[in-house]
Amino acid sequence: MNLLVLGGTIFVGRHLVEAAVSRGHSVTLFNRGRNHPDLFPDVEKLRGDRDGDLGALRGRSWDAAVDTCGFLPRVARASADLLSGGVEHYTFISSCSVYPEGAVPDVDEESPVQAPPPQGIEDVAEHYGPLKVACEREVEAAMPGRGLIIRPGLIVGPFDPSNRFTYWVRRIAAGGDVLAPGRPDREVQVIDARDLADWLVRLVERRRTGIYNAVGPAEPLTMAAMLEGCLPGDGVDVRMTWVDEEFLLANGVEPWTEMPLWLPEGDPAYDGFFKVKREKAMAAGLTYRSLEETARDTLAWEIGRTGPSKVAPSGLALDAGMSRERERQLLDAWDARKSGLAPLES
Ligand SMILES: NC(=O)c1ccc[n+]([C@@H]2O[C@H](COP(=O)([O-])OP(=O)(O)OC[C@H]3O[C@@H](n4cnc5c(N)ncnc54)[C@H](OP(=O)(O)O)[C@@H]3O)[C@@H](O)[C@H]2O)c1
Repeated sequence: MNLLVLGGTIFVGRHLVEAAVSRGHSVTLFNRGRNHPDLFPDVEKLRGDRDGDLGALRGRSWDAAVDTCGFLPRVARASADLLSGGVEHYTFISSCSVYPEGAVPDVDEESPVQAPPPQGIEDVAEHYGPLKVACEREVEAAMPGRGLIIRPGLIVGPFDPSNRFTYWVRRIAAGGDVLAPGRPDREVQVIDARDLADWLVRLVERRRTGIYNAVGPAEPLTMAAMLEGCLPGDGVDVRMTWVDEEFLLANGVEPWTEMPLWLPEGDPAYDGFFKVKREKAMAAGLTYRSLEETARDTLAWEIGRTGPSKVAPSGLALDAGMSRERERQLLDAWDARKSGLAPLES
């Protein structure tokens, strides 16, 4: 098929293009050319800013289009409207953040979503989920019966720019005393971007429509099993210290960003977060590689990108995650607390 990808050069889109090309499809990229403009030398590239400059798409047609980078409803609407006559099938990459905070566990595709924000609200950092809801509605309105909405949970793997899962892969590879947050049995959900991409291409080939959550893995995964899955398997000496959430919160540790993938259980806002249903996606062919493979490939990519020095126990300077110094301080304070000494001063 001829496939148009709006985006396609950072993470999910990049894997999507690779998956589509490897399945023999002819791909066209539309983006501004700011990120990795030289990627995919054999793929057609159209340049433009989707916020106001869609000219390069006019008069063209494709079998299908995938929008990986829609965050504002008026922008999502503009491309879907323009392409409604020129493409047969249209996919929008949304997010599980459409479900409300505090959603009860086991949200499925029929579960209620957040209300879209009032018109004119465009602060994506502040209103990410509600804006995705509004984008979904725009795409569905522009492409009735021809739209596919994918709602991923946390996406991980090589080229992930967020350093969330990558923090754990790097940290564990560095060895030593690792601060592990919260309860070891707490469930987490991650999906490898490559599994998402391969599946998405197959869905588009079959012109599947409707809404699909996209979370993984197939079986429930605990935090402890996830961290274990990140062990590089080359004899690195790792000692996990599980630190409870009361202590982390009392010491000002930021859930999710400073301690990636950790969400306090005491906060009902996160109750349903890692309990999103995947059955519909699995029934539609979503499969999962092993966590070990994801971790291994993520580490190889990260080392290639930043050099092995960042694996050294002396420091980690990632966007998400905590410094080794902060981790050491917390571990010392945790030990002191257990032995009756004073807690960490903030
Ligand atoms: N990461 C997660 O855990 C997670 C979870 C749930 C959902 N999601 C969703 O998954 C998607 C992932 O995106 P990604 O960054 O990985 O996709 P990507 O397609 O790999 O990269 C984003 C692309 O969008 C292009 N782009 C950005 N702004 C543009 C504009 N104004 N006009 C034209 N092109 C533009 C960028 O190129 P230029 O900058 O060169 O234009 C780049 O090619 C997002 O929709 C996100 O909400 C992510």
